[in-house]
Amino acid sequence: MLRVAVAQMEPNVDDMAANLLNVKKILKIAGKEEVDLLVLPELANSGYMFASRDEALARSEAIPNGSFSTILLEWSQEGRVVVAGICETKEGNLYNSAAIFADGEHLGTYHKIHLFDRENEWFLPGNEEPLVVEWKGHKIGVMVCFDWAFPEVARILALKRADIILHPANLVLPYCQNAMITRSIENRVFTATANRVGTERGVSFSGMSQITSPKGEVLLRLQEEKLRVAWADIDPSLARDKMITRRNDVMKDRRPSIYGRLSRVT
Ligand code: ACM
Repeated sequence: MLRVAVAQMEPNVDDMAANLLNVKKILKIAGKEEVDLLVLPELANSGYMFASRDEALARSEAIPNGSFSTILLEWSQEGRVVVAGICETKEGNLYNSAAIFADGEHLGTYHKIHLFDRENEWFLPGNEEPLVVEWKGHKIGVMVCFDWAFPEVARILALKRADIILHPANLVLPYCQNAMITRSIENRVFTATANRVGTERGVSFSGMSQITSPKGEVLLRLQEEKLRVAWADIDPSLARDKMITRRNDVMKDRRPSIYGRLSRVT
């Protein structure tokens, strides 16, 4: 069994020190509760509502050497995994990233592919397939927030054999939590969405962080609490069973030869 936790918090674009402090609190709680796999929201180090690229740049850090990444890396040293959304600077560019740390190592970074609203003004979109890493025999996939609206992302993660999709988020629209139930069912995977809360520069975020099972069960859904770590104990091997009925395997029954339109620009 794995203890998977989502951390709900309120990153603040005007108070980086508070963001660091809140994450330290979360890590302490998650450590005490013996969490194996912890998910933090999108842009947890920086807040979301930048007014300009310069503001985003001033709040960005390098992965894995930045101060925020360093405390995550340290926390992971005790045989656990953490994924967090980070405003990342790399080779002069900015990315809306999700970095994954396990056992004191940086396992990888995903650059958000589908940028939302004004994000295109400061971030470059990722150009690589979403990331799946292996930890203790479990396959862990990563996507970020608005990727939920593009079912191809979760499908690719499932085709790469992800058992669970970790999903840092700063959700504005009200659809995602329900959509993630569908992502679970259609791919027979667990999902863990850690969403932020609060109102930042006039924009409100919806909280309701959740964990879903391969059968589409909502194992956990928070409300709009400001700082909360909540968890579910899961058996990731259940995601290896892709039978949606006795005769239907949701992976093997796909018909890629007639899906060509999916990879064409319309
Ligand atoms: C979002 O992608 N932050 C809505």
